[in-house]
Amino acid sequence: MQHLADLNFKSDRNYHDSKNSVYWLPNDHPEQERLNLQHHILKSMFGGNVLQSVIDNLDFHHSRLKVLDVASGTGIWIKDMQKDFPNCSYEGCDIIAPKVKVEKSTPIDEGCLVTDASDTTATTTFRLTYGDVLQGLDYPDDTFHFVHMRLLVAAFRKEEWPIAIKELLRVTKPGGMIQLLEHNSRVAGDEKNPFHRAWKAVSEVFEERGIDTQIAFNLPSLIEAHPNARVVEYHNRYSDLASNSDWAKAMVIQYRELIHSMMPMLADKLGITTDEEKKEFLNNLCKPEAYTESNGYYIAMSVKKS
Ligand SMILES: C[S@@+](CC[C@H](N)C(=O)[O-])C[C@H]1O[C@@H](n2cnc3c(N)ncnc32)[C@H](O)[C@@H]1O
Repeated sequence: MQHLADLNFKSDRNYHDSKNSVYWLPNDHPEQERLNLQHHILKSMFGGNVLQSVIDNLDFHHSRLKVLDVASGTGIWIKDMQKDFPNCSYEGCDIIAPKVKVEKSTPIDEGCLVTDASDTTATTTFRLTYGDVLQGLDYPDDTFHFVHMRLLVAAFRKEEWPIAIKELLRVTKPGGMIQLLEHNSRVAGDEKNPFHRAWKAVSEVFEERGIDTQIAFNLPSLIEAHPNARVVEYHNRYSDLASNSDWAKAMVIQYRELIHSMMPMLADKLGITTDEEKKEFLNNLCKPEAYTESNGYYIAMSVKKS
């Protein structure tokens, strides 16, 4: 597998510099904005940041639970969790090296990866640091009561998923919980519609990079392969993108931004050569008819370690 920087595609976007990773989305400001929008959609889709079985098993309000967010991206899930559960302590890690130094006046640890350093609303401390879940995280065994990991479908080769799951279980305390959420998209209907064309190109990139497009459905069996782990809650949510409901409209904007972020790798496959063609393709993705019979699926589950 070629490193992203060695691939022959034109891009004005910024990417991670990890040589081993197949992750192919940018890490720049437009992508961070997309991740933040997606966070709010997912929160409303699943009725909160934490599944009910996790709330039922762990005392978020009264205990100082130790919470870890693996592949924390912009850190938005942690920041939002802090508002709901200020008693917990939070750690986040990602292969994006800390970039923005926080100002002294903010109550957040120095050296953390904070995209909005002016956000001083957080009252609990959290730390966001470098950490590659495939290389092993820098935490002792049995450290966290709750470990969250979300949206890694574009980041792991098929054979890397068991390594990641094993690492999540290692750092989770016995009796602790893990929550996973992954994306899957089923595209049906007219092959000429823009979303269908875009997703076909995305699937080709996934295949070329050895990525498991069905991971959302394969996760339960990967979990159950561990005798000390069992799936206790499993949800499948989808939105009919063609429905033009408020929810669908937000998802459509999110998908447009996702394809925008992926465009440097998709352009050749879509026969797009000029900026005008790119703009037109992305604009067409905003029209409801682009999504005939297309569904955006997300699957979330909670896992208990015995
Ligand atoms: C699609 S983003 C999701 C970010 C965040 N979980 C969210 O829900 O907004 C995927 C994130 O995984 C990170 N990532 C990719 N490979 C990783 C690895 N091996 N270890 C840790 N983080 C990784 C990327 O840098 C990126 O921030």
